[in-house]
Amino acid sequence: MRTAGVAGVTDLIPAPAGPPARATGGGGENGPMTSVAIVTGASSGIGAATARRLAAEGFHVLAAARRTDRLAGLVAEIERAGGAATALACDVTSDESVAGLRAAAEAAPGPVTLLVNNAGGARGLDPVESGSVGDWQWMYDVNVLGTLRVTQALLPALVASGAGTVVIVSSTAGHTVYEGGGGYTAAKHAQTAIAGTLRLELCGRPVRVIEIDPGMVKTDEFGLVRFGGDAERAAAVYAGVAEPLVADDVADCVAWCATRPHHVNIDQLVVRPLAQAAQHKVHRTS
Ligand SMILES: NC(=O)c1ccc[n+]([C@@H]2O[C@H](COP(=O)([O-])OP(=O)(O)OC[C@H]3O[C@@H](n4cnc5c(N)ncnc54)[C@H](OP(=O)(O)O)[C@@H]3O)[C@@H](O)[C@H]2O)c1
Repeated sequence: MRTAGVAGVTDLIPAPAGPPARATGGGGENGPMTSVAIVTGASSGIGAATARRLAAEGFHVLAAARRTDRLAGLVAEIERAGGAATALACDVTSDESVAGLRAAAEAAPGPVTLLVNNAGGARGLDPVESGSVGDWQWMYDVNVLGTLRVTQALLPALVASGAGTVVIVSSTAGHTVYEGGGGYTAAKHAQTAIAGTLRLELCGRPVRVIEIDPGMVKTDEFGLVRFGGDAERAAAVYAGVAEPLVADDVADCVAWCATRPHHVNIDQLVVRPLAQAAQHKVHRTS
């Protein structure tokens, strides 16, 4: 869906075939314009599922991650389904790269009303006593400082939209610690702290802050990244769990929160599979 009145954009953004067009905002005398959603970490797992789902909801999705080949495939898939999306190369640990994200948002084909801070992950499952400083550094850089950097860059556009939403994909690890999870839970606790603080600081301005906290989600890469490519160790996390959450389940939560009327702020949404009553209490059939 091409929109009127945004200079210099129509040559950058290919028009999709004929998307659903429910997400709109702003536009003034030109009428409502397609709302733009930015999703970080959109090249796999929860981010890719969220990008697909938000496009189906009628957003023009700016899909950001480092692996642009993956993003190109995702954009093609969204366009085949009649949605609109643009791939953006972005490393959330780089100021320069995130500046590019900000520029893309400024040139977007409509008001930027939604940011989903999803890029992140875990590395290692070592005790604090012997955990790798490098792993902790990576987790802090991507999950925490990445969220900070991207949110700072995009808040002006979200405020200007008059109806902005910041989603932070933290985790149940943002509320509960577990043995071996020191680095990841510290990073996710920090993301949870950012969400709470930002909500207080933005009170009175037109941007709501939503924290999504998934429990066990079976995605293709999360475990592989955590265990340095060890597929057996990654698979063991989900062994015997009948139905762990999948990426689409979390995307569904993001989409539901983000499409409530703008005065409704879902502060925190904790979502786990039925088989996981708590971090330490998982029902396994084998
Ligand atoms: N899976 C779970 O059980 C679970 C549970 C709770 C919360 N979460 C959280 O949900 C989010 C997504 O997890 P997932 O399971 O979908 O994992 P995933 O498939 O490994 O996805 C992680 C995404 O983050 C991106 N990313 C990593 N480093 C980046 C960087 N420096 N700059 C930009 N993007 C970067 C990756 O893309 P590139 O490598 O292409 O950059 C990838 O798209 C994470 O924040 C994770 O902590 C996951």
